[in-house]
Amino acid sequence: MNFENVGVEEDGPVAVVTLNRPQALNALSYALIKDLSLAMQELDQDDDVRVIIVTGGEKVFAAGADIKEMAERGPFDERIQERLAYRDKINKIAKPVIAAVSGFALGGGCELAMSCDIIIASETARFGQPEVNLGIIPGSGGTQRLTHVLGKHRAMELVLTGDILSAADAERLGLVNRVAPVELFLEEAKNIARKIAAKPVLAIKAAKEAVLKAANAALDEGLDFERKSFYLLFASEDRSEGMKAFLEKRQPEFKGK
Ligand code: CAA
Repeated sequence: MNFENVGVEEDGPVAVVTLNRPQALNALSYALIKDLSLAMQELDQDDDVRVIIVTGGEKVFAAGADIKEMAERGPFDERIQERLAYRDKINKIAKPVIAAVSGFALGGGCELAMSCDIIIASETARFGQPEVNLGIIPGSGGTQRLTHVLGKHRAMELVLTGDILSAADAERLGLVNRVAPVELFLEEAKNIARKIAAKPVLAIKAAKEAVLKAANAALDEGLDFERKSFYLLFASEDRSEGMKAFLEKRQPEFKGK
């Protein structure tokens, strides 16, 4: 498997997919999401692989969707539909997926981690949904999954303020399974992956499906709702200003339009 934006390594039954756009803090561009989705789909079909780990390496998990790309998009851009199709396939991987998060997991990065089945964090991991600062809202499940995990009030505070959680707070609030030192977080994820990989494969598949059923009862409706609102905001002046200001490294001037 050869992808420009992700690396894939197989270690026995455990595959590690590493996001690889360090120059943009692993920002989730269309090309990265496509590569990630295709790599994960291929691993999902590979009988030698039992568990998939998604990581960004030690420095950063992912700083969110690519703001440079988003700044140029309109709500009805064709590429958006393609991106969503690739993103949805990531949500539908049948094998267990573990996120190994170190450094920032913001916006789409936090959402990518939350769409995995288990999250192992390093002590430097930071989680947040700062989309409001750009004049948009989370668009890959953040408002729904954070609320499922943290409850309404904590999710609301994070989404409305754009504040960032430390690894310790994320563990305390139940957002991550556990926190390990930076030099050990990937090994910790691999240990859990190997434990799962040694179990009977059909039971693991059924167990994952059943747990997701419990978590997803009303999620699909919420995700559709969130997605429509997210792209509707692409028509606002504040969204253009928010993204432009970020790229120009200045404070945004929002007008409420
Ligand atoms: N998109 C595109 N480029 C990004 C990026 C992003 N999300 N995040 C960082 N970068 C780029 C920066 O533009 C910069 O590039 P240049 O060197 O070419 O200027 C490079 O990565 C390094 O970033 P910083 O200099 O900003 O690094 P820092 O250490 O000072 O700050 C940070 C790190 C706090 C993560 C900061 O980069 C930041 O706030 N990034 C944006 C985070 C964000 O708003 N994420 C949400 C995106 S929207 C979204 O994800 C929608 C969704 O729900 C699907």
